[in-house]
Amino acid sequence: MPNLYWKNKDKFEKSKTFKTQISYPFQILESIKSPTINKFTSYNELIQKNTENDQKNQLKVNDWDNLLIWGDNRNVINSLIKKFSKKIRIIYIDPPFATGGDFKFKTLIGENNAFEVTKAYSDTWSGGIDAYIDFLYERLVLMKELLAEDGSIYVHLDWHVSHYIKIIMDEIFGIENFKNEIIWAYPAASAKTRRFFIRSYDVLLFYTKSNDYVFNDDPKIYMEYSNRVKNALKKDEIGTYYYRGGSHNGKKLSRKVYIRENGIFPRDLWNDVPYIRANTLEYQAFSTQKPERLLKRIILASSNETDIVADFFCGSGTTLAVAEKLGRRWIGSDMAKHAINISRKRILDIYNSNDLINWEKKYKKNPYPFKILSVNKNLQDINAYDEFLVNNIQKTKKKNLFQDVKFEIKILKDNNKVSIELIDYFVPNLDLIENKLKKKINSFSDWIDSWTIDFNSQNSYFNVMWISYRTPKNRKLDLTSYRYYYEKSGKYQISVKVIDILGNETSQEYEISIN
Ligand SMILES: C[S@@+](CC[C@H](N)C(=O)[O-])C[C@H]1O[C@@H](n2cnc3c(N)ncnc32)[C@H](O)[C@@H]1O
Repeated sequence: MPNLYWKNKDKFEKSKTFKTQISYPFQILESIKSPTINKFTSYNELIQKNTENDQKNQLKVNDWDNLLIWGDNRNVINSLIKKFSKKIRIIYIDPPFATGGDFKFKTLIGENNAFEVTKAYSDTWSGGIDAYIDFLYERLVLMKELLAEDGSIYVHLDWHVSHYIKIIMDEIFGIENFKNEIIWAYPAASAKTRRFFIRSYDVLLFYTKSNDYVFNDDPKIYMEYSNRVKNALKKDEIGTYYYRGGSHNGKKLSRKVYIRENGIFPRDLWNDVPYIRANTLEYQAFSTQKPERLLKRIILASSNETDIVADFFCGSGTTLAVAEKLGRRWIGSDMAKHAINISRKRILDIYNSNDLINWEKKYKKNPYPFKILSVNKNLQDINAYDEFLVNNIQKTKKKNLFQDVKFEIKILKDNNKVSIELIDYFVPNLDLIENKLKKKINSFSDWIDSWTIDFNSQNSYFNVMWISYRTPKNRKLDLTSYRYYYEKSGKYQISVKVIDILGNETSQEYEISIN
């Protein structure tokens, strides 16, 4: 079988199983046990409601929290292997494509549709394509360890590198386990070029771990019949049909084909999934966001309810949101804090998202509890930024910019009932911020993207008891929390965390006495 040879291939040949790699400890940053938080007027009411709802929750797995992990996925996967080796039914990844372009993100500001486009990083590799292949090869080998024997992996790429990665996937997963090269075509793609044909599709490489794999013939993944078929439909006493075939030498060869209500079993050319538009409910203002309908087909086909679905380049959390809505367990990771913040809000707000089965309706269910973890931060910085994101202008600038950020709160106390009001936010190094962004900030609250309270902080991690956050569709932020009732007198520690529109996170602690 032909192999791909690149600059550092020898290094990988020697350590193919990566047994020497270290597993880093996970730190829990946040635990979100009652993800219905902002619709209630008191925490106690919320807990009661949740206990009632627990029975209705569609994911019936004991002792399980979904996991959103901040960190370089090489470390994340290494650390997961011990517990999750061969346990993950499906991995979908949508890694950077080595486009050489800038990755920008849209910072939404305040309540009045103001925004600023900020450059997050350049998808440029200092060592060129060789460095990119190093990066992905190593991670794919690790992912194979996690994949169940009857599991599947989908790698989302485009014309830049899909041909190279196809060859290394053949090597890692075995050419006999290659199932499809899915073409996701989005015909409405636009580009200014008149020097070559406009590029209008992505490639998804679908491999299984073995020949005995989960693949569901589920009508919910079916495609619609083509317009040509739909226009030719007729009915008889048996059902709806069209004529397939033609004539040869004057002899009629066509035959009746009865159609299935739900459409046809999917081909490998998917042209029925539109690209994300800003006016849709699923839009997260994240430039490489993929459509939920794409992931719906993949997850329904290659997994069953309660199976674990993982996406180690989760971005805005599309895979996680779809897995959640389809009753699967999920593990997501991203090294960008910005992506973790967006995914966190997307899962919290899933109640208001599109229902996947009846798209015109809202999902209207609360998410299953989830945790936000990180892998050791210093090691993560070394790995991730050395090889990737060469030109990360945000990083250096942001360090000084947010060094001494503070916020101010008012504690509103009525015997054992306490609520908290956010009253100010100070950014001391304002001179480092570009004027065009500053001009759009009219009040302190325009800085804030979300804020969170742990009324009884006892752990090394933050237990999210109340949160208010802005989403692209709902820009309103509550500046006063609900009331928390303390059941026993004593001294308590309250933790408040504010995340601003540039992704900076600040926490402050307060002590309170309840008599
Ligand atoms: C193309 S985006 C994924 C978009 C996602 N499919 C969605 O629908 O929103 C790629 C993501 O990979 C992340 N990423 C790149 N290198 C990574 C690494 N080494 N570890 C974890 N995440 C990484 C980037 O921060 C970015 O959010």
